[in-house]
Amino acid sequence: MTPLVLTVPGCEAWTERLRPRLAGQAGRALVRQFPDGEVYVRLDDDVAGRDVVLVGGLDQPDRKVMPLLFLAATARELGARSIGLAAPYLAYMRQDHRFHPGEGITSAYFARLLDGAVDWMVTVDPHLHRRSTLAEIYRMPTTVVPSAPAIAAWIADAVPSPCIVGPDQESAQWATVVADRLGAPHMILTKIRTGDREVSISQPSLAPLVDRTPVVIDDIISTGRTMIETVLQLRRIGTPPPICVGIHGVFADRALDDLLAAGAGAVVTCNTIDHATNRICVADALAAAIRHHLGTGSTPATV
Ligand code: R5P
Repeated sequence: MTPLVLTVPGCEAWTERLRPRLAGQAGRALVRQFPDGEVYVRLDDDVAGRDVVLVGGLDQPDRKVMPLLFLAATARELGARSIGLAAPYLAYMRQDHRFHPGEGITSAYFARLLDGAVDWMVTVDPHLHRRSTLAEIYRMPTTVVPSAPAIAAWIADAVPSPCIVGPDQESAQWATVVADRLGAPHMILTKIRTGDREVSISQPSLAPLVDRTPVVIDDIISTGRTMIETVLQLRRIGTPPPICVGIHGVFADRALDDLLAAGAGAVVTCNTIDHATNRICVADALAAAIRHHLGTGSTPATV
């Protein structure tokens, strides 16, 4: 049966991308706030026996989570056969450890919330650092859609003679795959983070960069400090303005302006979070992963 595609408010653009790729029916729902700020939801389609795909990119998660949970709970109570979540960006993945006494490990708590709400989830390159798979915290079936093929294709078109630079050890999982696909050299730097906005990056060596354009790849650009410090290090050794590629462009505060001011030649992101820097579309890969969970497609390429 045709899946019903329901939007978590704020994620309309992704619903528009996915619905035709899933041959899905646009679900009709009212989500609004009561005067006291509480969330009201109403489903205007009969969901009994239907497969429901909730589309909910989870940037700015705190305002999206209650509508998501209530839409899922309503669909469940009204008899949906299955409820899946398409979250191009999965939030709350970075606090995966108790760094200081008393801290909450919110990635695990968030996983429990979503596990209690939906039956499966697809997402694009979640921040897996101290954990190696989502299965370490999520019980439901999940599929991780890799952005590397789309990123490599964009670089192949846009950047002659690239050298791929990963700003820290975690970024190696994306940077090396992209470099291999391009047949380009790569280097992985070392990062020390001492605060939300305080990072230092090791000095790159010049040899692999001679006659090449550095392309810095990281999964998240949030405050931009990781990218900024990497760009500054590259400029110090005399490279051309680096191209900065982020999988998820969160861009807190003035991050984009600060990154351009630091000397980035361009800042480009995948469209997991809608932003003016989006140049790389991952919708086909995400839709393939959703079709797999719906039982209407072959197994997608995943990591
Ligand atoms: C963390 O290690 C991630 O891979 C990114 O490097 C980090 O989230 C970037 O954050 P920011 O832009 O605030 O430096």
